[in-house]
Amino acid sequence: MTIRSVLAGTGSYLPARVVTNQELAATVDTTDEWIVERTGIRERHIAAEGELTSDLAVRAAESALEAAGVKGEVLDLIIIATTTPDNTFPATATKVQARLGANRAMAFDVQAVCTGFVYALAIADNFIKVGQAKTALVIGAETLTRLVDWKDRTTCVLFGDGAGAVVLKAENNGNGASAGAIRNSPPKGILSTHLHSDGRHYDLLYVDGGPSSTQTTGQIRMDGRDVFRHAVNNLSSVLEEAMQANGVTAADIDWVVPHQANRRILDSTLRKLGLPEEKLVVTIDRHANTSAASIPLALDEAWRDGRIQPGQLILLEAMGGGLTWGAAVIRL
Ligand code: ACO
Repeated sequence: MTIRSVLAGTGSYLPARVVTNQELAATVDTTDEWIVERTGIRERHIAAEGELTSDLAVRAAESALEAAGVKGEVLDLIIIATTTPDNTFPATATKVQARLGANRAMAFDVQAVCTGFVYALAIADNFIKVGQAKTALVIGAETLTRLVDWKDRTTCVLFGDGAGAVVLKAENNGNGASAGAIRNSPPKGILSTHLHSDGRHYDLLYVDGGPSSTQTTGQIRMDGRDVFRHAVNNLSSVLEEAMQANGVTAADIDWVVPHQANRRILDSTLRKLGLPEEKLVVTIDRHANTSAASIPLALDEAWRDGRIQPGQLILLEAMGGGLTWGAAVIRL
């Protein structure tokens, strides 16, 4: 038998305030038509004044713990993927830990920008597989609009705030992953994770501040066209790698739950792999790009509305600053 990380529950939280493209166009030199055509975004949620990343994370975590029937005090591990921690240190995860009463857990943050959730999931999965944790909470939480330069129309229209979370439980199930085995007697849980980064492209997408460089928080800077090109290439390549590692093809995949950066990136990536649009979980129109939060937000939505069903095979994928990118293959 093999120890696997099984998804026991999901949760999410979006701040109450919704800002439409039309509202943005009142203060930014842009239009609803431009934003929808180039990105697929129609609106985004923006955190209230004083509402912090930890507040969003706690709400998402509570809902995931409830769905999983797990109490905070049994958690061994809490990881928050975030680019927008409450403070430079300590980790926002420790604040969330205290509010969940998860006093046994080890808690830390992971920084891989938009790929953060896939990185955090892979780390938690590895902790579980080596037996160092039995119950883990993985959160993607962001108040990304606080890093936005509202005078830069090429970036400020793209982002939103939110949080999503999953509870993972260690379970003995299935034999080691082998190509045919996955199709014939499918094991449950995270089947594989695939992480990459290429620091040569650090300057394509970054924040122009930080404690060591400017002692300010800074704002998002991006070469959108180049990021777009790398996103389509890297995402299709990591998805192919993920399917190949499990001996499955596009026809075996029930759902792709991608990082929601741009509708055109999603469509181009899917086309390259021969995956139909109907298999894509899309939230970009309502959430915009919530960085590390976008995958667990989309996953929670599709799980709760019944699209995603037990036994199905799902692919997660993301790319973000660094550049970083990755994928995960999960049998529910
Ligand atoms: N409203 C109106 N016009 C705009 C806006 C705006 N908000 N932003 C840019 N424009 C104008 C530009 O000034 C330019 O005008 P010009 O031709 O007169 O110079 C024109 O629109 C075209 O600009 P491009 O930058 O070439 O537009 P493009 O089609 O590349 O779309 C976009 C820009 C949406 C940013 C796209 O490049 C993109 O999505 N890139 C990926 C970036 C991304 O998703 N980053 C998120 C983080 S990384 C990740 O999550 C994968």
